[in-house]
Amino acid sequence: MSRPVVAVTRRVFPEGLAVFEGRAEVRTNDADVALDADGLAKHAAGAQVLLTTADTPVTDALLAQLPDLKLIANIAVGYNNIDVAAATRRGILVTNTPDVLTEATADMAWALLMAAGRRVSESEQWLRDGKWTAWAFDLWLGADYHGTRLGIIGMGRIGRAIARRAHGFGMEVVYHNRRPLPIGEHGATWVTREELLRTCDHVVLVVPYSAESHHLIGAPELASMKPTAVLVNIGRGGVVDDAALAAALASGKLAAAGLDVFEGEPKVHPDLLAQPRAVLTPHIGSATPRTRRAMLGLAVDNVIDWLDGKAPRCTVNA
Ligand code: DGY
Repeated sequence: MSRPVVAVTRRVFPEGLAVFEGRAEVRTNDADVALDADGLAKHAAGAQVLLTTADTPVTDALLAQLPDLKLIANIAVGYNNIDVAAATRRGILVTNTPDVLTEATADMAWALLMAAGRRVSESEQWLRDGKWTAWAFDLWLGADYHGTRLGIIGMGRIGRAIARRAHGFGMEVVYHNRRPLPIGEHGATWVTREELLRTCDHVVLVVPYSAESHHLIGAPELASMKPTAVLVNIGRGGVVDDAALAAALASGKLAAAGLDVFEGEPKVHPDLLAQPRAVLTPHIGSATPRTRRAMLGLAVDNVIDWLDGKAPRCTVNA
């Protein structure tokens, strides 16, 4: 009997796939080019499993070309790259990799928050450009953290890890979710989104992308924030209206922003690229070797569960 085929959409750590030896035929994308829809359909033709990263759109049109597919294992906690409703309709399981990237992603939110607020990229560029000729008392003044108010929109696992770090900085932490969480170790207070935006010195977004969260933060929301505020998006592009954000930074309605995710990435809005008050990173929130190994490991465990005839442990459409 032929072995099931696991089609891997992007290059991943090869040792992470060794477990499939003798269990499945693994089809890799060694050139690591981001495949377009046709390329992906060819690459995954006849596969039972698609082991994919979050940059790969898995649309209904693609699924229609993959009648043998039974499982889509996303190597990411977010899965808005996959048309889950279409997969469910076609009887295809979808899995993700929660928990294992929580701490690394929370670290990255803090890296962006501090780099943006304390003007790390801007002042470094100025120094590299040879413009530093004398120290000055008011050189590159930035944001305070201790004693300020942090607002987290999207208080899931990553939001709670960000909140824990904030307590170490001596900050007050408030959050907004649709519903308040039970009082817990996160030590944060639920407030309305309006109050959070209006009163916080720093705002971090950890919101999954959906039709509902599209442009959750647009021009009116940005206008309601303190002009001294720092905004960080560590969740998904499209939750922020990037053009409106660039305009708010340009007009001084917002002090700074740190963005790891973008609308239409890897393209970045040109106004953001031109905006020195924005610290921009290429969707590397979970990019540490240990975390990426753990993400791949959990995605592979989901596939192994399926190969063993069990329900994959992180199924999102059970
Ligand atoms: C995730 O896991 O969702 C991260 O954004 C990596 O893609």
